[in-house]
Amino acid sequence: MSNNPSYFSQTLINWYNRNKRNLPWRATTNPYHIWLSEVILQQTRVNQGLPYYLKFTEAYPTVQTLAAAPDDEVLRLWQGLGYYSRARNMHHTAKQIVQEYGGNFPGSYSELLKLKGVGNYTAAAIAAFAFKEQVAVLDGNVFRVLSRVFGISDDIAVPSSRKVFQLQADQLVPADEPDTYNQAIMEFGAIQCTPIMPDCLFCPFQQTCSAFTHGLVQELPVKSKAKAARPRYFHYLVFEWQGQYYMRKRLEGDIWQGLYDFYLHESPDKTLETEAILNELNAAGIPVQPDQLLIPKKEFKHILSHQKITAKFHLIKLSNRLKDIVEQETRLGLYSSEKIDELPKPVLISNYLKDAKILVHL
Ligand code: ADE
Repeated sequence: MSNNPSYFSQTLINWYNRNKRNLPWRATTNPYHIWLSEVILQQTRVNQGLPYYLKFTEAYPTVQTLAAAPDDEVLRLWQGLGYYSRARNMHHTAKQIVQEYGGNFPGSYSELLKLKGVGNYTAAAIAAFAFKEQVAVLDGNVFRVLSRVFGISDDIAVPSSRKVFQLQADQLVPADEPDTYNQAIMEFGAIQCTPIMPDCLFCPFQQTCSAFTHGLVQELPVKSKAKAARPRYFHYLVFEWQGQYYMRKRLEGDIWQGLYDFYLHESPDKTLETEAILNELNAAGIPVQPDQLLIPKKEFKHILSHQKITAKFHLIKLSNRLKDIVEQETRLGLYSSEKIDELPKPVLISNYLKDAKILVHL
């Protein structure tokens, strides 16, 4: 027994045929559906991603329907998945495919790479699964499996290591079944060769796996730690007028572009003087009085990949006079709770809306 390429790929495919989960994107060669699934599944587990895949394919069964959808609607459907730039790029690319490619996906890895938001991973996945091109898909699962089975100790958090893994991966993809093989290695990483407690006891590579035979399963893959997340402190001012709320669409240049939130005062540190908020509001031409602003005790936390947000929400009921001023001095818009329900919002904002009983169902 050895770890030569055809032994490895055949053993893996045999394992896959016995162990694979039935997932809807595996029963199609439609490149649009495969693209949707792969964009959703990047950094999302199958269990969490599956309902989104079903929602998207139902709402937008073709690339033309996705291209024609309003921006807010696409972001609203994506709500909760995070990484909203992916949804925006996906929408942009759907329009590009309709306008420039007559609604047909480019049919090769190198052509797919030219699309916005389509990187090595997504291009390889579409090329292999939809067009049976002999390319290797590399995701976190694949890095882990290759690192262990072939004893590759390059740090997977360092971009230059990709070359090393790609070289190994390219030798393994069989010409006749690149689609099954690539599904198989991802599935093997997801359910057998898992990060913490891999099932080495019942592994078909037990005898040949470099990590297992050298007692290095827990050491591989090598992954250096990410930088600590940057803390941010958000003080939201929730302006209310007769049961309706002022919100605004976030612009480019920070997190959550295109999503809706409230008037935001960001503070460099956790403790915030009410005075600082009042000063900012006054400088913005909004004369809120000190007794309208009590610092709320409740905190909402939200963790992003590189940021850790702590947020407080200050509810301010507006008089008619202040309402006019808010409308003149800010770009906030007034929304009923029914309308707010339909807006795409960061999960942090949804959590607050639910907690404050502004939104009942989410
Ligand atoms: N994660 C990313 N792509 C996947 C796929 N095609 N099947 C299962 N999990 C995945």
